[in-house]
Formats: sequence, C-alpha cells, structure tokens
Amino acid sequence: MTTAQPQTLPSRQIQFLFTVALASLLILGSARIMLDNLKNNQNPFLRLLHLTKRDYKVVRLPVNVSDDEVIEDGCNVFEGKWVWDNVSFPVYGESCPYLVKQVTCRRNGRPDSFYQNWRWQPHACQLPRLNALKLLEVLRDKRLMFVGDSIQRGMFESMVCLVQSVIPEGKKSLQRIPPRKIFTAEDFNATIEYFWAPFIIESNSDNAINHTVRKRLVRLDSIAKHGKQWEGVDILVFESYIWWMYKPQINATFGSPYDVREYNVTTAYRLAMETWANWIETSIDPNTQKVYFMSMSPTHLWDWEWKPGSHDGNCFNETHPIQDPSYWGTGSNLHIMETVRDVLSQLQIDVTFLNVTQLSDYRKDGHTSVYGERRGKLLTKEQRLNPKTFADCIHWCLPGVPDTWNEILYAHILKDYRSKRNKLSPAPL
Ligand SMILES: *[C@@H]1O[C@H](CO)[C@@H](O)[C@H](O)[C@H]1NC(C)=O
Ligand SMILES: *[C@@H]1O[C@H](CO)[C@@H](O)[C@H](O)[C@H]1NC(C)=O
Ligand SMILES: *[C@@H]1O[C@H](CO)[C@@H](O)[C@H](O)[C@H]1NC(C)=O
Ligand SMILES: *[C@@H]1O[C@H](CO)[C@@H](O)[C@H](O)[C@H]1NC(C)=O
Ligand SMILES: *[C@@H]1O[C@H](CO)[C@@H](O)[C@H](O)[C@H]1NC(C)=O
Ligand SMILES: *[C@@H]1O[C@H](CO)[C@@H](O)[C@H](O)[C@H]1NC(C)=O
Ligand SMILES: *[C@@H]1O[C@H](CO)[C@@H](O)[C@H](O)[C@H]1NC(C)=O
Ligand SMILES: *[C@@H]1O[C@H](CO)[C@@H](O)[C@H](O)[C@H]1NC(C)=O
Repeated sequence: MTTAQPQTLPSRQIQFLFTVALASLLILGSARIMLDNLKNNQNPFLRLLHLTKRDYKVVRLPVNVSDDEVIEDGCNVFEGKWVWDNVSFPVYGESCPYLVKQVTCRRNGRPDSFYQNWRWQPHACQLPRLNALKLLEVLRDKRLMFVGDSIQRGMFESMVCLVQSVIPEGKKSLQRIPPRKIFTAEDFNATIEYFWAPFIIESNSDNAINHTVRKRLVRLDSIAKHGKQWEGVDILVFESYIWWMYKPQINATFGSPYDVREYNVTTAYRLAMETWANWIETSIDPNTQKVYFMSMSPTHLWDWEWKPGSHDGNCFNETHPIQDPSYWGTGSNLHIMETVRDVLSQLQIDVTFLNVTQLSDYRKDGHTSVYGERRGKLLTKEQRLNPKTFADCIHWCLPGVPDTWNEILYAHILKDYRSKRNKLSPAPL
C-alpha cells in the first residue's frame, strides 16, 4: 500500500544489514563489564579460601524428581505459544541484587511491564516450574557455567536471580574475576558461573574488560586457553552468534597465527564449531559432565517484518509477543542454525541443543530497547526520543525471555540428574 516496502527480505539467510547498530551495542557491552569490575574490587581469592575451609561431610538424601517435574518424553517444548500469566510471572522482581542496570528496563523508565508476564506454553505438555531449592540440591558440589557473549551473560544473571532468593544473606556471593563471574551458594558448595568468550574459540575480543569490536580477529583453530578454564565443569552451557554477524566476512587465522585471511562468516563459524567439537570430544567425560548448546538469540531490528506496511521502526514501543505461529524473522541466520545442527549431530558425546530461537523470535517486546545503557550509562532523554538510532533490539530485559530459557534448561538438568541416578542405583522392584 505504501512505498515499495519489502514485506519479506529477498534473502533471509544472511542478514548483515545491522552492522552500525550492532557495533555500538557491542561496545556498550564492554563498557558495562568494565564498570562492574571497578565497582567490585575486593580480593576474590579470600572468599574462595573461606569456602574451601568449610566441612560439608553431611550425608545427603538423593533429590527426588517426579514425573511432572521433567519434560514429558516426546514433547517438543520449543513448539508452543506465549500466554498471559500475571499470576506466576515474573518469578523474581527487578530488586534481585545481581541484575546489572543494563537489563532492569522498568527501573530505567520503561512504561509497561507486560513483557514480564508472559509464560511459554508448549503445545504438547507443561513446562515444569523452576524449583530453586531443588536445582541447588542437584547442583550441590557442582559447577554450572554459561560460556558466551553478553546475551549469555543475561541468561547467567537470570539463572542467578531465579535461585538466589531461597539462599539467606551471607550465604551467597558474586565475584567478578574477568573473564569469569561466579555466583556461589555457600551451603550447597555450588557455583553458577559465567565465562566471557564471545566467539567460544579464541579471538582478540577475549579480554572481558577491554575488547575490540571493529577489528575483530578470530583464531579458528584455537580453544586450548579457554578450554583449560572449562575443564571439569559439571554442566557447561555454550552460546555464540551475534559477534559473528558484524559483516559477511571475518578476519581469521587457521594454522599459522600470522596468516590472517578473510573468511565467509558461515565458513568461519563451521571451522570454529569443529574446533569446539574436538575439544568436547577430547575433554568431556560424559559420565560426569553434561554439555548444552543454546541456539541463537534473535534480534528485532525492523518492525515491517511483523507489522507489514511499517517502515523505520524496530523493537521500540512493542508490548506484545507475535501471535503468528509460523513467524520466523530475519534476526536469526538459518545457515548458522544448520551448521550447529550438523556439527552437533556428528559428535560422539551427547550435547543437548536448546532450540530457543523461535520462541524468542515471537518476543519482539522483550528487548531492552531504549531502556538500557550505552557505554555504561543510561540513555539520555534526547537519545530515548531517537529509538531508530538508540534502541537495543539485541539484548533482553530481565525479568524476561531468558528466564524461560532457564526453565527449559532446568527441566533438562533435572531429567539428566534423574536418569543418571537411576542408572547408578536402579529403583528396587
Ligand atoms: C525421596 O523420596 C524417598 C522415598 O519416597 C524419601 O524417603 C526421601 O526422604 C525423599 N528425599 C528427599 C530429599 O525428599
Ligand atoms: C492480571 O491481568 C488481568 C487481565 O489482564 C487483569 O485484569 C489484572 O488486573 C492483572 N492483575 C495484576 C495483579 O496485574
Ligand atoms: C565442593 O565442590 C567441589 C566441586 O565443585 C569439590 O571438588 C569439593 O570437594 C567440594 N567441597 C567439599 C568440601 O565437599
Ligand atoms: C585496551 O586495549 C588497547 C589495545 O590492546 C590498548 O591500546 C588500550 O590502552 C586498552 N585500554 C585500557 C583501558 O586498558
Ligand atoms: C580484515 O583486516 C584488514 C586489515 O586490518 C581490513 O582492512 C579488513 O577490512 C578486515 N576485514 C574484515 C571483514 O573486517
Ligand atoms: C562467500 O560468500 C559469497 C557471498 O555470500 C559467495 O559468493 C562466495 O562463494 C563465498 N565463498 C566461499 C569460499 O564460500
Ligand atoms: C507507542 O505505541 C502506541 C500504540 O501502540 C502509540 O499510541 C504511541 O504513540 C507509540 N509511542 C511512540 C513514542 O511511538
Ligand atoms: C530449531 O527450531 C526451528 C523452529 O522451531 C526449526 O526450524 C529449526 O530447524 C530448529 N533447528 C534445529 C537445528 O533443530
């Protein structure tokens, strides 16, 4: 009806059109970490020592996991719809002390709170509610680590907020030891951790405090330095996507660290995934460790994708999820999706793929938009009035969409725990 606005993009497979927006947001991410770090300059090692001094030799009953606490066999939890539920959601409030300012959209001035009240309802079953005490029991003497970029950091913060309220003051702490953040539940001798590795493999963006965005250079065959710090972690959750999507090509080395070449992003991503897969095969003991891989978190940069006829808009001012079940926007790259599927299917070790892309793709309303930060500062009034330039349609508000990713992860962790336990000590007849 209006001008020749495209209703769908000619090629949805590769969308690199958002380079400017992306670059500014990623810089913002780095400033954030730096600030966090300045604020928290205590000596972290003292607290670690304190932890190891405690005596935990207590006999523990096994955690009981009933059928309605795990995902029913055969149910695809990734197919479903968002339903209004302002009774059970949000699970925690913005007062959770472990949220960074970047994600507390309401407190930053977002006028609506609808985005906090949607529950993901799979078509074929119920998604179990997260029971924080049960999760902590399952994590007793264990480490759960999220590895990835700032999207993954949001998932980490969400998980910490989902469990922290059941732990009394003085028995929980958050340490920042870049590139890690470590939440400790002292009485459980359990940690929930985050590891900054935006490409998973090594790159010149690995400094969690000071990293380059524009001059990115990835080392497609190098993972050992990171891998060393992931060794022995009981549950690893990986994610990497948005950092690859800055341009159609990316500077990379493979073999000689001096031989820098431009690779197509899809080629580079595959090589990186293969390097990661080799590390998984040689370093993970599937009897004691478990690995998850998160599918890509979609962006919502053009509102004409869900609002035909519109132009110039983005996720700003969106308050409701998309209801069209077949919706699939351009903020997620199908080539990369296929690459991940291929690499995971060839692994000898069972890695669980959590395909949250589509359920998140419905959530055009869930992003921080103009209610986040830029270079470590909340947007100014003037910037807020210019959402076309300043809206962040990549990161998510909390409480919000990442809470659902964690509920899905939780249901899988419980299921793994139960099947491992049943193997070790089969129930008496
Ligand atoms: C688990 O269930 C068994 C038998 O029903 C019970 O004896 C045990 O106390 C339960 N464990 C916990 C931690 O609740
Ligand atoms: C919950 O949503 C219903 C339906 O929109 C509304 O009538 C009610 O006031 C809401 N309750 C709260 C506590 O926000
Ligand atoms: C705490 O958990 C770690 C594994 O994360 C384990 O090595 C250590 O022995 C545990 N400490 C105690 C006191 O049980
Ligand atoms: C960040 O890294 C760059 C390049 O390595 C360096 O020139 C700069 O001084 C560093 N900045 C800070 C604040 O450390
Ligand atoms: C790769 O690096 C060269 C030299 O720094 C630069 O000119 C080129 O734009 C870079 N390519 C990409 C895709 O960033
Ligand atoms: C890289 O991508 C371009 C454009 O998408 C394509 O024409 C070219 O064949 C690709 N090169 C390789 C080596 O895959
Ligand atoms: C936001 O959307 C509402 C209706 O959906 C509209 O009335 C309002 O003008 C919009 N606000 C801005 C700043 O675009
Ligand atoms: C993930 O889910 C989407 C839609 O729900 C589907 O199109 C895609 O093939 C799935 N990806 C994988 C790797 O299974």
